[in-house]
Amino acid sequence: MMIEATAAPAATADGQPFLLMQDLVKEFDGVRAVDSVSVTINKGEIFALLGSSGCGKSTLLRMLGGFETPTSGRISLDGIDLVPVPPYQRPINMMFQSYALFPHLSVWDNIAFGLRRDRLPKHQIAERVEKMLNLVQLTHYAKRKPQQLSGGQQQRVALARSLAKRPQLLLLDEPLGALDKKLREQTQLELVNIIEQVGVTCVMVTHDQQEAMTMASRIAVMSEGKILQIGKPSDIYETPNCRFVADFIGSVNLFSGTLVEDEPDHVMIESPECRHYVGHGISGSIGMAISVGIRPEKITISPTAPPGDPAAQINWVRGELVDWAYLGSTTVYHLKLASGMLIKAEVANRQRHAGYQPQFRDMVYASWDQDDLIVLPY
Ligand SMILES: Nc1ncnc2c1ncn2[C@@H]1O[C@H](COP(=O)(O)OP(=O)(O)O)[C@@H](O)[C@H]1O
Ligand SMILES: [Mg+2]
Repeated sequence: MMIEATAAPAATADGQPFLLMQDLVKEFDGVRAVDSVSVTINKGEIFALLGSSGCGKSTLLRMLGGFETPTSGRISLDGIDLVPVPPYQRPINMMFQSYALFPHLSVWDNIAFGLRRDRLPKHQIAERVEKMLNLVQLTHYAKRKPQQLSGGQQQRVALARSLAKRPQLLLLDEPLGALDKKLREQTQLELVNIIEQVGVTCVMVTHDQQEAMTMASRIAVMSEGKILQIGKPSDIYETPNCRFVADFIGSVNLFSGTLVEDEPDHVMIESPECRHYVGHGISGSIGMAISVGIRPEKITISPTAPPGDPAAQINWVRGELVDWAYLGSTTVYHLKLASGMLIKAEVANRQRHAGYQPQFRDMVYASWDQDDLIVLPY
């Protein structure tokens, strides 16, 4: 069975990848924090490293910034080997979650700081700072001190300071971690707008899948130092390549099954709960173990059995409604199947009072379209 990660073409116009990481390894006391990571990133891309805490995201980012030395492997930027280049000589800027703004300096002076240190002519500094202030829409706040600004505004000052030196690569480590949920969501789009206006290539780290999906053109899903899948947000959601990714991104109902039919136009997978008819691009050998996933929002629930032979029970299950959560825009129903498996079905509340609303302890049918099935190696 072939299930492959899809990746966008990763080269610049002249055919060279802009940022290249090859077989990167970082060990701390013999433990691999980053384990054979290979990625190529396009110029102008916003690329997210996504994974739970401790999976090695920051360590990978810090190697790009030059704050950690790889145990082995290659990093190159625009064809230049970065590993021997010290951090301050890399055309790279890293913005930290804490922003690290100087509290005693005004917004203007914070943004100018790196430019002064580089001894740029005064008029050039002024020109760049004004441009940056304008870009992050803080022109009227230039004289304030950081603590006189909101969290979102401080974040924008930090971004302006990072961009003032016109880095070729911007590194963001949990850039919005300090903001509350509502402000985060708003700031995510602002940040993308600013990054795209400047056109800088960006690698960001986050543990928040919604943030990665909102901001990034491509996402690498990491676990235990390894990259499991790289793809556009829709790729990793709709066609995850393993159980971990399917489960980590969003929510999924996973059935464990066995391949029982392999025909040119379909395969049939049998699990204790039902049979899964899948017509899209997979094949394998009879008897092999396969997992089948279905996202909660792709399930239809009804009080009656779906059409077709009830004994065959293809692409549907029957279960008892044991729990539900009304979430406003959707309602999530939990069905308990005879096998003991719990199924989650998420139904959009498109009208205030409409459609079938199952009651506690009702026996209901959950069905789905075979096109929506996710098929995964066991
Ligand atoms: N300087 C260090 N010394 C020893 N272990 C480290 C160091 N930095 C990170 N680690 C370990 O490497 C692993 C990955 O850490 P990190 O890259 O910070 O993860 P993430 O950013 O994904 O939360 C963790 O187990 C962490 O404890
Ligand atoms: Mg981290």
